[in-house]
Amino acid sequence: MATMRMLLFLAIFYSAGICMISSVTDPNDAAVLLSLKNSWQNTPPSWDKSNDPCDSRWEGVTCNNSRVSGLGLSNMSLKGKLYGDIGGLTELRSLDLSFNPGLTGPLFPRLGNLKNLSILILAGCSFNGEIPDELGNLAELSFLALNSNNFSGAIPPSLGKLSKLYWLDLADNQLTGTIPISTYHSPGLDLLLKAKHFHLNKNQLSGIIPSKLFSSKMALIHLLLDGNRFTGTIPVTLGLIKTLEVLRLDTNALAGSVPSDLNNLTNVNELNLAHNYLSGPLPDLSGMNSLNYVDLSNNSFDPSEAPLWFSTLPSLTTLTMEFGSLQGVVPEKLFSLPNLQLVKLKYNAFNDTLNMGDSINPQLQLVDLQNNQISRISPGYEYKNTLILFGNPVCSSSSGASNATFCQPPRQTTKS
Ligand SMILES: *[C@@H]1O[C@H](CO)[C@@H](O)[C@H](O)[C@H]1NC(C)=O
Ligand SMILES: *[C@@H]1O[C@H](CO)[C@@H](O)[C@H](O)[C@H]1NC(C)=O
Ligand SMILES: *[C@@H]1O[C@H](CO)[C@@H](O)[C@H](O)[C@H]1NC(C)=O
Ligand SMILES: *[C@@H]1O[C@H](CO)[C@@H](O)[C@H](O)[C@H]1NC(C)=O
Ligand SMILES: *[C@@H]1O[C@H](CO)[C@@H](O)[C@H](O)[C@H]1NC(C)=O
Ligand SMILES: *[C@@H]1O[C@H](CO)[C@@H](O)[C@H](O)[C@H]1NC(C)=O
Ligand SMILES: *[C@@H]1O[C@H](CO)[C@@H](O)[C@H](O)[C@H]1NC(C)=O
Ligand SMILES: *[C@@H]1O[C@H](CO)[C@@H](O)[C@H](O)[C@H]1NC(C)=O
Repeated sequence: MATMRMLLFLAIFYSAGICMISSVTDPNDAAVLLSLKNSWQNTPPSWDKSNDPCDSRWEGVTCNNSRVSGLGLSNMSLKGKLYGDIGGLTELRSLDLSFNPGLTGPLFPRLGNLKNLSILILAGCSFNGEIPDELGNLAELSFLALNSNNFSGAIPPSLGKLSKLYWLDLADNQLTGTIPISTYHSPGLDLLLKAKHFHLNKNQLSGIIPSKLFSSKMALIHLLLDGNRFTGTIPVTLGLIKTLEVLRLDTNALAGSVPSDLNNLTNVNELNLAHNYLSGPLPDLSGMNSLNYVDLSNNSFDPSEAPLWFSTLPSLTTLTMEFGSLQGVVPEKLFSLPNLQLVKLKYNAFNDTLNMGDSINPQLQLVDLQNNQISRISPGYEYKNTLILFGNPVCSSSSGASNATFCQPPRQTTKS
């Protein structure tokens, strides 16, 4: 009888022991996840099944050797704050909470404790306050996306310490101040020699675009600085970054002439300098053989005839220069460029006869020349897609063409 009781006791003890041993998740990591679960609404249903995230495979949680190594909860309608507790997941490699607009509040400095983190994606949430300096301690970070939140304050110079960073996206926030550049005492974004992407667009950044930001040691592919309040001139050193493919400086307050060094950037396929106060001669882009999208609208360039590159850039698909000071004849050769699709040249001073030639690229969809000074259109005209000449003398009521389709007021294009 006593033996029976003893056996029963042992059996109970043993099974309880197995139960304890079978708690797979590191207890500290489990505690952090339970605390996150309590601070968030709409966590996945699998998070309610047990208190052992690694064992019962909580959705979005990745483990390695009982430690939580990944947390991926993009677009889950999560609501709540990201408290400093998360800093306890010291083996975390990847944290993606993007596109949960219900996530609010500031980022806590303890995020900087995640020393093994290489991917941090918090895009498309509603985080606010300043970007903590401590993010500069995440020495393994290669991907940092804080875009489309409500962060304010300055870009922390400490981000310049992220020597492995490949992707830096701070776009579409309320950031102010200047772009931090390294000094003897402080790091800066010029030190990010591995970075391929600087997306700092759609903020309220100001000051000059520092020429020290760029060097031939950099490997940038995308440089997006559009939609800020940058002043001063376009730095000559930009011409050193031969890897550049997309360059957007539009919608700032940049002035002065465009440095001829930009013409060295033979890999750039998108160049947008629109909506600034750039002046002087129209830039020579004839060396930018990969260019397919160019927008120089709304600047203050010297009046000039269409530059030669209008007729020679082999990859050009979209040519936009609205509200410019182009004059003389629209070059006929433009319309036979092999990849051309859109020509948007309204509000310039092109005059005389429009002759689109007889080898118009069949891909060409739109030629918008409204409000120029064009007085005639060559009779041989064969172009069947949209041509807009409204507001040119050729469409004046005294002209025989005034009833032609190309003279009709353009339909309001819906804003995207
Ligand atoms: C798991 O962690 C070990 C080191 O603790 C590491 O060597 C290994 O690459 C990791 N495995 C995965 C799939 O991340
Ligand atoms: C979020 O998920 C919904 C449905 O699950 C999907 O329709 C939507 O496109 C996703 N949004 C993003 C930004 O991924
Ligand atoms: C980070 O990873 C390394 C090796 O992969 C490991 O030795 C270290 O303990 C991890 N954690 C922290 C906080 O550095
Ligand atoms: C963003 O922050 C500003 C103040 O910095 C506030 O006025 C605004 O309502 C916030 N927007 C959102 C979407 O949270
Ligand atoms: C651009 O090319 C020209 C002519 O090859 C050269 O003189 C100039 O130094 C180059 N600029 C940069 C910034 O590399
Ligand atoms: C471009 O310039 C024209 C004429 O100055 C102005 O009416 C228009 O609002 C400007 N557009 C933008 C987006 O700055
Ligand atoms: C077109 O404009 C140019 C430059 O303003 C001018 O020299 C030329 O005489 C004009 N041609 C016609 C036909 O109006
Ligand atoms: C244009 O159309 C109006 C009415 O639709 C007509 O009265 C006028 O004569 C036409 N003008 C020409 C130049 O064909």
